[in-house]
Amino acid sequence: MKSIASIILAAGKGTRMKSSLPKALHKVAGNSMISYSLELLKSLGIEKKIVVIGNKADKIKEEVGNIDPSVTFALQEEQLGTAHAIQQAESCLTGFSGTILILYTDVPLLRSSTIKDLIDSHTKCNSNCTVLTAFLDNPAGYGRIIRDTKGIFTKIVEQRDLAANQEQVNEVNAGIYCFDSEKLFSMLKLVKNDNSQKEYYLTDVIKILLKNGNTVSTVTVQDKEEILGVNTRLDLSSISRILYKRNATEHMLNGVTIVDENNTYIEKSVQIGQDTVIYPFTIITEGSVIGSNCHIGPYSHIVNSSIGQETSIYSSVVEKSKIGIRTNVGPYTHIRPGTIIGDEVRIGNYVEVKKSFIDNGSKVGHLTYIGDAKLGKKVNIGAGTITCNYDGKNKNPTTIKDGVFIGSNNSLVAPVTIEKDSYTAAGSTITTNVPERSLGIARAKQKNIPGWVEKKSKKKNTE
Ligand code: UD1
Ligand code: CA
Repeated sequence: MKSIASIILAAGKGTRMKSSLPKALHKVAGNSMISYSLELLKSLGIEKKIVVIGNKADKIKEEVGNIDPSVTFALQEEQLGTAHAIQQAESCLTGFSGTILILYTDVPLLRSSTIKDLIDSHTKCNSNCTVLTAFLDNPAGYGRIIRDTKGIFTKIVEQRDLAANQEQVNEVNAGIYCFDSEKLFSMLKLVKNDNSQKEYYLTDVIKILLKNGNTVSTVTVQDKEEILGVNTRLDLSSISRILYKRNATEHMLNGVTIVDENNTYIEKSVQIGQDTVIYPFTIITEGSVIGSNCHIGPYSHIVNSSIGQETSIYSSVVEKSKIGIRTNVGPYTHIRPGTIIGDEVRIGNYVEVKKSFIDNGSKVGHLTYIGDAKLGKKVNIGAGTITCNYDGKNKNPTTIKDGVFIGSNNSLVAPVTIEKDSYTAAGSTITTNVPERSLGIARAKQKNIPGWVEKKSKKKNTE
């Protein structure tokens, strides 16, 4: 097989997005569009990759560098069109000869199997160029594939340059091509910008190739959805929807129940075990790993976290944390980054936990804040307890050892330690350590005044 290099175009202004963010960095189903292009090339094993950048180049460079440091960049200082963009990559390919795969970065639904078919057909037919096409019900906005009366492909005409009788052509250019490298770069020099946008169109290279007696083939995509491009925020939303649906389908086929796939948002990087049920209005993102037989949602947001099997997360937010097995979280709980929760733990009903460790069998059931704390096994935290972890300057730790019972409405002023099997009395403000098997009580002693009500009403009558 011929060697393959790929050029991804990501320099365009993305004018129709009306955004200060470059189009390639807009997210579809949680990931930047450029990440989909890079993922595609990775799955195809294409090693030589050039990304053409221009508009907001530094931002794209940073994102691409984080995903795939092996990428080379070509700078298109002025965005004069797709042909001009490809020309900027020529110097990165000195000495290269073979097939050049061109991808536009705004087509995130493409499957690697489709690109593989395109490359295979290009190689088999020994063409100088192969264009990926699709038949769309609504072709508006796309370059049209124009064929002669015998059905032979002659050129691509952009939407803005269509003649009246070409409007109804519904075969469109996907913006994905294989080119023979030498032909591509020699013909690029002949492209002119005599069109409505005054841009150098890559699509014109094809017309020039044919004029010069070269062979150009087309491959039609099986699933037309794959070639949908993102040009506006409306496309961003509809394409995200399709990607979320794809992800949900994959999980369902793997044995996960998704009660309402139209209201569930699971990113591609997420793993979910068998027989887990995902209830509506749930978002699971950034490589989260959910065990089997879990109940997640409704209304839960899980970010970059791992959840053990048979655990339930109900109407809660879990961020960058690890939760064990057979644990119950929620409703209305916020597990903040850096938290580790063990097995058979109960956390819920308006509880916030931050950067804390909660060991097996503990219960933090109601209206509580646990921050920078370490809780042992089988600890019980009474309703309304607050770890006072911040003194205005530093974050201080609270340690609550195995078997401790914290009464309701306690303020635990950190740094403080409650030793094993101790109790604190309800309403206490605990400022010093409580030794093992003791009671810590720190509240004003109650005083009852008999007959107070009577005295009060008498006083009122004499006024
Ligand atoms: C392009 C095709 C059109 C096709 C459609 C498919 C051309 C001339 N037209 O149109 O036939 O149906 O894609 O989605 O190619 N870019 C640069 N530098 C530039 C201009 C664009 O890098 O100077 C990049 C953009 O960042 C984008 C890609 O090229 O990734 C396509 O640009 P865009 O303006 O979206 O082209 P379309 O009008 O959609
Ligand atoms: Ca486009």
